[in-house]
Amino acid sequence: MHSVDINGRSVLVTGCSSGIGRSTATYLAHSGFTVFATVRREKDASALRQLGEPNLIPVCPLDLTQPDHIPAVVQLVTDELQHRGQQGLYAIVNNAGTGVTAPIELTDIGKFRNEFDARILGPVALLQAFLPMIRQARGRIVWITTPGLLPIPYVASIHAPDFAVNCLARTLNLELSKWHIPVIMVRCGTIQTAAPDRSAREMQAAIPTGPSDRLALYQEALEKLRVEFGRLDQKRTPVEEVARVIYTALSARRPRLRYQVGRLSGLAATMELLPQSLVDAIMMWRE
Ligand SMILES: NC(=O)c1ccc[n+]([C@@H]2O[C@H](COP(=O)([O-])OP(=O)(O)OC[C@H]3O[C@@H](n4cnc5c(N)ncnc54)[C@H](OP(=O)(O)O)[C@@H]3O)[C@@H](O)[C@H]2O)c1
Repeated sequence: MHSVDINGRSVLVTGCSSGIGRSTATYLAHSGFTVFATVRREKDASALRQLGEPNLIPVCPLDLTQPDHIPAVVQLVTDELQHRGQQGLYAIVNNAGTGVTAPIELTDIGKFRNEFDARILGPVALLQAFLPMIRQARGRIVWITTPGLLPIPYVASIHAPDFAVNCLARTLNLELSKWHIPVIMVRCGTIQTAAPDRSAREMQAAIPTGPSDRLALYQEALEKLRVEFGRLDQKRTPVEEVARVIYTALSARRPRLRYQVGRLSGLAATMELLPQSLVDAIMMWRE
């Protein structure tokens, strides 16, 4: 057999109010994992509860910009695992994140900082708290990222944390190898969630509110981007495909360290292999 027995194994997934997190949490729970699905708001926990899935346990609140939420999460998971007679936590799926679309010059620093907290510092604090339990379960860690490390204009608040995730995941792989804890990146292309639409709407709303002289400098490029987003939106990959890949990453006896999923994912991964100067020239030409 090439799969591990998932019975009696538990997974914590962050950012489960919508999109990839919610779909993954429900898919894994239907498949037999015990799933701790973290959300920030009680209404989202309640919506998950209403699904009536016994393997799905909403955990609220976990806002990754608030490290003081973590001890209560650890306590809840510890109590529930004990109640279910499970040894350790098998996996964490670091999914939560939002990101804004804007030129770096005009990016809201508070939102930029929140994104680094949600995608880098919060997950590191969470890992520090849960690693003893993951070690006990000989588990694994999964990180959701964009498909390639590329300097794409106007989405640095999403892609800069991706570069950092790449560094963390690969370094953790080395640091945790003696306990056989793989750290896996699931690199997603354009996925059908509410996030891209929200990002486009936020960008649209920001245009008339920013400093008009500086916005004018980017107006043409942002309009072009808006049209490009619209085109991408017509061909996004269903979110369930990501959930299936995450299931594979968690259940394969020997998981790969990188999985690519979603439209344009293969192209981005291939571009990443090109010399940086060539990639930069291609991006400049697109501008
Ligand atoms: N959609 C794509 O095409 C795509 C492609 C590549 C990578 N990704 C990555 O996949 C992840 C999920 O994206 P999605 O498309 O599924 O977006 P989504 O539907 O907007 O889901 C984002 C989730 O993250 C949560 N979240 C945001 N900030 C948080 C924080 N500070 N603490 C805790 N939870 C927080 C949100 O909770 P609230 O509801 O409380 O805000 C929500 O549950 C993101 O990291 C994104 O960068 C997405």
